[in-house]
Amino acid sequence: MRNVETFRDLQRDATEWRRHLHENPELDFRVDNTARFVAEKLASFGIDHIQTGIAETGIVAVIQGEAGEGPTIGLRADMDALPILEASNKPWSSKIAGKMHACGHDGHTAMLLGAAKYLANTRQFKGSVALIFQPAEEIELPSGGLKMVEAGIMERFNISRVFGMHNSPGLDVGKFAICDGPMMASQDDFNIVVKGKGGHAAAPHRTVDPVVIAAQIILGLQTLVSRSTDPTEALVISVTKLKAANANNIIPDQVEMGGTVRTLVPRLRDFAERQILASSSGIARGFGADVEFKYVRSVPVTSNHTEETNLAIDVARRFVGSASVNDKARAGMGAEDFAYMLQARPGAMIYVGNGSTAGLHHPAYDFNDDALPYGIGYWVNLVEVVQCI
Ligand code: NI
Repeated sequence: MRNVETFRDLQRDATEWRRHLHENPELDFRVDNTARFVAEKLASFGIDHIQTGIAETGIVAVIQGEAGEGPTIGLRADMDALPILEASNKPWSSKIAGKMHACGHDGHTAMLLGAAKYLANTRQFKGSVALIFQPAEEIELPSGGLKMVEAGIMERFNISRVFGMHNSPGLDVGKFAICDGPMMASQDDFNIVVKGKGGHAAAPHRTVDPVVIAAQIILGLQTLVSRSTDPTEALVISVTKLKAANANNIIPDQVEMGGTVRTLVPRLRDFAERQILASSSGIARGFGADVEFKYVRSVPVTSNHTEETNLAIDVARRFVGSASVNDKARAGMGAEDFAYMLQARPGAMIYVGNGSTAGLHHPAYDFNDDALPYGIGYWVNLVEVVQCI
């Protein structure tokens, strides 16, 4: 087991890469310059098996170990930024107004590059490591993780297990957190159009007012979680969009509303889809209106596999000490498209502490460069442990 001091030199390299990426954020699948930067670095480390252009701008690079035959382990980082105007006031702030690395994917990419440099140098493991750099983690269906899996990376590169890592603001630098089973929620979206009959706002009796009906529907949906779901099972139904008339004196023909469904329990996605439709159409019909309903399933539940979770816990404990590893992390209701890779292969996702920074997706957020040697060290030790069993 290599301790964190082993990775101090790499921390300097990775800090430089991370700040370069931070200054030059790119969105969704259009991470061309980021991908070029990553591929050039990988080549400079002496890695000759680099496949670019997977799912448009994704990369998989393979490092062969020199300790004998063995399976291939997949390590995944994401490369995309967010459409947010940066307010971190750091010297390396985004040079592109309205785009920023507000989720730390610059740090994730730099950590995996750091591990790549180390592992390409030492190669003290069996089998191979597949370094997965994916675009478009932040977008909804179809996201980069799904596209990479659909492009067949697991089969093409013979990946037998896959591991992910995300930084966690609020968790001290040098600490890790993980849990077995569901760690992040699924994400589905719904849209409802309430179709009534519009008219003059001064003569509501000659209309079927979809605004009032939409209000009833919003209240009705609140009871799906509070009255119809087992309280010990996590489900969120949030109505977030509402579009009615553009004038104060018009009752519109229709109201469009939308929202999101998050859950840690896959079968509750079926429940939510069925009951949101039943509740909204029942309420609308009671008032003489109709609904159009659309339910779109996006990212599934990010669910860690037991054996790989235990391997990740073991490696993290030996790396930073048991007291610095929370193996019963609370699941969060955010979504993460690494979920698709965990559906394709057994694996586990871990949180690495980002210290007391602003939260993810906040304009003042910045990845903490002090976390870099911990992320790099986790990846290196994971490979040297898992690939030597
Ligand atoms: Ni993220």
